[in-house]
Amino acid sequence: MTDAATTRAVEAAITSRRAIRAFLPTPVPRATIEEILAVAARAPSGTNTQPWHVYVLTGESLKSLSKRLVAAYDDPVERARHTEEYAYYPTEWRSPFLERRRKVGWDLYGLLGIAKTDKERMHAQHRRNYEFFGAPVGFMFTIDRVMRQGSWLDFGMFLQSVMVAARAHGLDTCPQAAFTQFHRIICEAIGAPESEQLVCGMSLGVRDPDAIENTLVTEREPVASFARFLD
Ligand SMILES: Cc1cc2nc3c(=O)[nH]c(=O)nc-3n(C[C@H](O)[C@H](O)[C@H](O)COP(=O)(O)O)c2cc1C
Repeated sequence: MTDAATTRAVEAAITSRRAIRAFLPTPVPRATIEEILAVAARAPSGTNTQPWHVYVLTGESLKSLSKRLVAAYDDPVERARHTEEYAYYPTEWRSPFLERRRKVGWDLYGLLGIAKTDKERMHAQHRRNYEFFGAPVGFMFTIDRVMRQGSWLDFGMFLQSVMVAARAHGLDTCPQAAFTQFHRIICEAIGAPESEQLVCGMSLGVRDPDAIENTLVTEREPVASFARFLD
């Protein structure tokens, strides 16, 4: 049914995706972005509701939003005025999630030579989120507020499809929940109506092959640790 080359290509598209945190300024043609989104829109959704909206930022729109986000992030008073609209992370961190979260954080900071006590450099590294890690394309994803939890599942499948489809073009991505803190600034800038809620953002572009942070390869638990086979 499936030839070996197809198996390898599908698996490679999935397993070669990593969160990339440094991009080259190389522009991505609009036709390529549209192709990626058209492929991703083949993602399944309950009763084919297709609950995703995508705002594509490039050029001036990307630059000016980035500037506003960086300014808000760097000003402690302004930053404190912005909070997430929905909880992406638990408020109570428990094992094993806490250890996994810590590990990826320290692995990234370790690669960058950022000490655990160096709050300034940590702040600067987090700021890179709002600079879209230097990427030429930024996506903002919104969902209609009337949609329920199931549609958020559909949305996750769509997001993964965007990231995998990007790999087919040799492009990379970083999905970013960091944007949700500044949803008011973002929704105003992209012109999203009040009926829509920001889900997350994403950077898209060509990975910088020389950036040390792009060498980060995160771990995964073995199948036996999360799957139980019931005969
Ligand atoms: C919805 C979502 C939001 C994320 N938000 C951020 C973010 O704001 N900043 C960031 O650097 N990475 C972010 N990540 C990337 C994760 O840290 C990353 O996927 C995880 O550590 C696994 O690494 P990998 O993607 O390289 O396999 C996010 C991932 C997802 C799926």
